[in-house]
Amino acid sequence: MKKIWWKHGVIYQIYPRSFKDSNNDGIGDINGITDNLDYLQDLGIDGVWLSPIYRSPMYDFGYDVSDYCAIDPVFGTMRDFKRLIKEAEKRNIAIIMDMVFNHTSHLHPWFLESRSSKDNPKRDWYIWHPGINKKVPNNWMAAFGGRAWEWDSLTNEYYLHLFTRQQPDLNWRNPRVKRAMFDVLRFWLDNGVKGFRFDVINLLVKDRQFRNNPYKLRLTNPRRHDQQLHKYDRNQPETHDILKEMRVLFDSYGDIMSVGEVYLDEGVRDPHLPASFLGDNDELHLNFNFSTIFASFDCHELKTILVDWYNAIGNRGWPCHVFSNHDQSRAITRMLKNDTVKAKLLAVLLLTQKGTPFIYYGEEIGMVDGKIPYKYIQDPLGKKYWPFHKGRDKARTPMQWNATKYAGFSAVKPWLPVNQDYQRTNVTIQLQEEQSMLQFYRQLIVLRKSHEALYAGDIEFMSAPGEVMLYRRSYKNKQCIVALNFSSKVKEVNCNNTCKLLLSTYNKQNSDVHTITLQPFEAVICSL
Ligand code: GLC
Repeated sequence: MKKIWWKHGVIYQIYPRSFKDSNNDGIGDINGITDNLDYLQDLGIDGVWLSPIYRSPMYDFGYDVSDYCAIDPVFGTMRDFKRLIKEAEKRNIAIIMDMVFNHTSHLHPWFLESRSSKDNPKRDWYIWHPGINKKVPNNWMAAFGGRAWEWDSLTNEYYLHLFTRQQPDLNWRNPRVKRAMFDVLRFWLDNGVKGFRFDVINLLVKDRQFRNNPYKLRLTNPRRHDQQLHKYDRNQPETHDILKEMRVLFDSYGDIMSVGEVYLDEGVRDPHLPASFLGDNDELHLNFNFSTIFASFDCHELKTILVDWYNAIGNRGWPCHVFSNHDQSRAITRMLKNDTVKAKLLAVLLLTQKGTPFIYYGEEIGMVDGKIPYKYIQDPLGKKYWPFHKGRDKARTPMQWNATKYAGFSAVKPWLPVNQDYQRTNVTIQLQEEQSMLQFYRQLIVLRKSHEALYAGDIEFMSAPGEVMLYRRSYKNKQCIVALNFSSKVKEVNCNNTCKLLLSTYNKQNSDVHTITLQPFEAVICSL
């Protein structure tokens, strides 16, 4: 069987500001990543997704791009980047770039031109509107607070920004915008990039008539943005045509992968929307389903989410799974109250599902959310909504490499405070401890890589005692059984046949078993 890196491999997300600082300015950089590729290779990583490293004024820490074909000096140079690609290639690690295509920075030369006059050739590259009766054109709200329309007195019109006002939305109905962005993709593909993560991809195209969004019937969130059903400012059918065209471009380059970010309206859990961006195997290769990110540590709930996800995708694409990223509280804190026993179970769940697993940097050592006082908050979202929403910095604290000052991330004070537990929770210590989280991740990934049933097989959920999740992964005649105990009680699962215990979160010895006895919150993998 031919292994396809993005389908059968494991992907690791790096938030570059926070991974490793090589030049001691307190901010992580490209060379810091290159220097640690061996670490990622030893972990068994096949692809690394880098949150944006393009030139940016950093109002949203790189998600506001001012030049899509340049590296921001804070992260290094184009030469550093090329070295990263070369070194990653040597280790069979694909580099995945983060494409922020919905909006640019307000300081991008395109926007500077666009706002300079109404008849500038780039005027129509963004979404301008004269307003209605001297008021905003409609009720659309910005995800990061306030109205989505900003009045620009230079030409007396509003421009649209679905995030901060420093992130004006591009007009994807203009074919020139599309052409320019496809050139950006080609630029990175020609530089050896093997994949792209597409930021808020479902927001790309907006309703042509700018109709008002309807409001939800039950309002549970005080933020106006979250009270609306985002019917007209996202998910327009034209987005699918763009993705189909992109897929043709990717296919012409070989084994390229694209993965999309599609959030649902708050409180909505319908996997058909994220699945729809896979098209009929002719749009994105993968798309995140964030329902797992918003789930609780509950066997029934998680199983329902997974089954619904598989059903929504069918044979029209390939699933992927994620529990943590740079925008949300880390799963170990959010779902598990920092319990490392349960975190090992969650690792088994992530790495034995059918589909591509995404690990967020630090997840493999059990890094928890940072406790960051207001004076250190950097995220625009946290600054705006404190204390109702303390922002996303807590999931972006420096990677914990060792027990020295600043956790070996940097020799100087980092841009965000290091977590207090760094002397206990760090890579160096965990490499020495046989039963650490890191060693467990490594064993788990080795196991996954050596069993076709685990990385390529089908999945079938089986009936099991309450609070136990049980499934079979099978590829041709090879089978693995995975059993996860979500309860604090000992549970027994009868396997019918004798099976071989391959890995347990309780560090049990490999053995032949007929009945699997699961300790509280234990997860095991067996082969049949
Ligand atoms: C996405 C990114 C997030 C960013 C936003 C605006 O949701 O993941 O970090 O702030 O888009 O680009």
